[in-house]
Amino acid sequence: MTNLHPDLDRVILSPDVIQSRIKEIARQIEKDYADEERVVLIGILKGAFIFLADLSRELQIPHMVDFMSVSSYGDTATSNGAVRVILDLRKPIKNEHVIIVEDIVDTGSTLEYLYRNLKWRNPASLRTCTLFQKKRESKEVPLDYLGFELPDVWVVGYGLDYADTHRTLPYVAELKSEVYE
Ligand code: PRP
Repeated sequence: MTNLHPDLDRVILSPDVIQSRIKEIARQIEKDYADEERVVLIGILKGAFIFLADLSRELQIPHMVDFMSVSSYGDTATSNGAVRVILDLRKPIKNEHVIIVEDIVDTGSTLEYLYRNLKWRNPASLRTCTLFQKKRESKEVPLDYLGFELPDVWVVGYGLDYADTHRTLPYVAELKSEVYE
């Protein structure tokens, strides 16, 4: 990786490592849902759109995709973990086999809110799939499919952003601390 952006310190996960883990996750999902008619993948915007695009193109079982967007109340300094829906699903998920697809679980409060919210709509089954996990204070919701654990530093790339920058990098990198301090 010779052309690392000046904001970045080091690459944590290369494109090859990420893509081969996504293939493994896809094979596991195909196995788990082999007997079902179809699966509904719900991508949580914005961060998950890159992972969802790669995962869904890798999956060789019938599936459809939908999206939700949620936001925490207040800024990060004052947020109490309360979450609200900004954009909801296009279709009901009653009796569907649903997988929530996230880029990252950090504190866990977004995933917990989504899990409760979607469970309430009576899907046939509900699982979670996240490519990255950080510290995760709340562990009520199981991470059924997990790609990688990340160190508790500011990471960008492959869906993860800093003020909406660096999100579309094909790798995950650590942001230099002077960029956000
Ligand atoms: C990120 C990520 C998750 C959430 C995880 O989204 O995509 O949805 O934070 O954090 P938590 O586990 O602490 O709740 P973000 O709010 O940064 O929005 P974005 O995906 O649009 O960048």
